[in-house]
Amino acid sequence: MVSTHPTGVKHSGSQYLPQRRSSNANSSPNQELLPLTARVHNHDFLEIGGCDVTTLVKQFGSPLYILDEETLRLGCQQYRDAFKQYYKGESQVLYASKAWNCLAVCAIAASEGLGIDVASGGELYTALQAGVNPEKIYLHSNNKSREELIFATEVGCTIVVDNWHELRTLVEIVETANSPDLQPRFLLRLTPGIECHTHEYIRTGQLDSKFGFHPNELEELFTFVSKQSVLNCVGLHAHIGSQIFERQPHRDLAALMVQWFSNAAKYGLNLTELNVGGGLGIKYIESDDPPSIEEWVKPICEVIQEACVAENLPLPKLLCEPGRSLIATACVTAYTIGSSKVIPEIRTYIAIDGGMSDNPRPITYQSVYRAVVANKMSSELTQTVTIAGKHCESGDILIKDALLPKTEPGDILVVMGTGAYNYSMASNYNRLPRSAAVVVANGEANLILQRETYQDLIRQDRLPQRLKNQELGVKS
Ligand code: LLP
Repeated sequence: MVSTHPTGVKHSGSQYLPQRRSSNANSSPNQELLPLTARVHNHDFLEIGGCDVTTLVKQFGSPLYILDEETLRLGCQQYRDAFKQYYKGESQVLYASKAWNCLAVCAIAASEGLGIDVASGGELYTALQAGVNPEKIYLHSNNKSREELIFATEVGCTIVVDNWHELRTLVEIVETANSPDLQPRFLLRLTPGIECHTHEYIRTGQLDSKFGFHPNELEELFTFVSKQSVLNCVGLHAHIGSQIFERQPHRDLAALMVQWFSNAAKYGLNLTELNVGGGLGIKYIESDDPPSIEEWVKPICEVIQEACVAENLPLPKLLCEPGRSLIATACVTAYTIGSSKVIPEIRTYIAIDGGMSDNPRPITYQSVYRAVVANKMSSELTQTVTIAGKHCESGDILIKDALLPKTEPGDILVVMGTGAYNYSMASNYNRLPRSAAVVVANGEANLILQRETYQDLIRQDRLPQRLKNQELGVKS
């Protein structure tokens, strides 16, 4: 099959905005899948953030995560501006750092005025090390350890309490600490019972979910919390899932949360914060049609404002915590093409130097990605191939039936939309060292994650004395 190459990516930055639906019917489909600053230079070569991708690979090796700072910053600004425009009360956007938690990403998001949602003590530690103000950090998880709860309380971040066990542990921590200054600030996470269409593993709003208090428990919960003078309950939280394109579930959630809010007031709880979670989907392939950031924020603000007027409630501080929609499109992963296997009339496999360890989403969620060849951007797309990873696992396939130009070993394959839940879910399967990452802007590339070495792989290994100095390999 021959077709023209979809990437005439010579768009100017201002013409392309992530999350914005294609306004130009003639624009190439890949424009919206690539970071904002993507261009083709010298006819054939992909450039991101003013840096030639093949040169980046020569300098930093592959696989290489390439993060476009401008795209990430623009997403942060779009969320912030949309809340300013559509919400009359105070608001705070938190970056859900589980999508990609590392020092540089936390620092960029925080420098745009975002707070950080962290999902563990490790993510909390990273955000603090990046210099994020703890007052703008919110700690999640459905099973926070006692140590994590103490850590969060001591540094003064807000805890999103998920269940009775955590609530009671917090009370106990404060009582045993015997320090009047230790007053955990927290939100209560509730399960809304709202279902949406996304992969079942990333749906969280339905009643059959491991997260949050069941709505039937509200009376007991609010009664309990209202009696705890040592705790500082400031609001409510809910999250219905991830990679969601529909708008109605978030409208329903906003309305329901205001009802909960009003209900809490009846128990004497003076709540001030309402956090509607994250979940806005992104465009991984041409047919994906998510709402823009503005289209997502606007109805949520409208519903909350209307419902607060109806319930005669003051407007709460409104929070949300997007992850994927901020960072997925900002990053691509560059791989070097190696071996191939042609099975006549069945399939051609082309193998790259990474796979399920740097991007576990295809094997975990059957996620579909698109790719281009960074040094053949203007070549005709003449082959349909399957991109295989290098792991010892048949399921380690990154893309089935990718339409590409004719490739050869050494070509640089670029998979798009890999900023969210790729590095953060990366593993050392088959003891592959974890990949490096660079942030690119204005022709400059800075390393933000150093490539792991073989020494790194055994850094935490211990060989007990009794296993040393054995005669290895003599027994049959
Ligand atoms: N808030 C909470 C409480 C969450 O659990 C999540 C995502 C978010 C916010 C951010 O959601 P986002 O805006 O990124 O959709 N590993 C899966 C995604 C898991 C999502 C986990 N929670 C994937 O690769 O698709």
